[in-house]
Amino acid sequence: MRKKVSIIGAGFVGSTCAHWIASKELADVVLIDIFGGVAKGKALDLLQAGPVEGYDLSITGGDDFAAMAGSDIVILTSGAPRKPGMTREDLVAVNADITASNIEKIKEFAPNSIVLIVNNPMDTMATLAWKVSGFPKNRVIGQGGVLDTARYRTFLAQEIGCSVEDIQAMLLGGHGDEMVPLPSYTTVAGIPITHFIPEDKLSAIVERAKKGGAEIVALLEKGSAYYAPAAATVQMVEAILKDKKRILPCS
Ligand code: LAC
Repeated sequence: MRKKVSIIGAGFVGSTCAHWIASKELADVVLIDIFGGVAKGKALDLLQAGPVEGYDLSITGGDDFAAMAGSDIVILTSGAPRKPGMTREDLVAVNADITASNIEKIKEFAPNSIVLIVNNPMDTMATLAWKVSGFPKNRVIGQGGVLDTARYRTFLAQEIGCSVEDIQAMLLGGHGDEMVPLPSYTTVAGIPITHFIPEDKLSAIVERAKKGGAEIVALLEKGSAYYAPAAATVQMVEAILKDKKRILPCS
């Protein structure tokens, strides 16, 4: 049986999640957005890449929340992104209502799904989603730590000149500026990172990783990062759908 993942919000993060899910052939995808034409159009476009990329999936889109019925996972991405100079917390007012109303739809149409929260401020939205949903805590999971860890690993690999795949790292705490990196749990193929990078350089890398989202917001000027946030989300999707027993930093 194929798995089914619904994505609420067909913006950059939502549609890029759909892209990674399709390219890894993980599940049928439903893209939902209040702008139904955008969701439908992006779904159709992605579906038509299937013959070239070689994935056999159902990929549909629209504004009908009922389409998420039977989803194994629902990814919640809809909400306003940051503009340069804003913190993630500045988005609370606008995104809280969007999150709460989307959770009501999930309760109605996909009450047995696992919900992944991606919109910001993610830790706050994940807590809100958990409270509004009434779901057990292991079915409402916030994505942030995987992304922050990916940024940290990227910068470490750049500094050392090794493969990103050989950097193992764990970051805890809130998503972004309040993250707590754990250099003592950061290794290069099992060798402590402190063997390769002096303390001051390591601190600078930690600082850059903490502000990694804002660095991209400042460059894009309109909107925030989406390739790495979506890849991080889909790593969680894959871990769940395949029950891989991964250890991933989540909210
Ligand atoms: C980031 C935003 C999306 O860290 O939270 O890029």
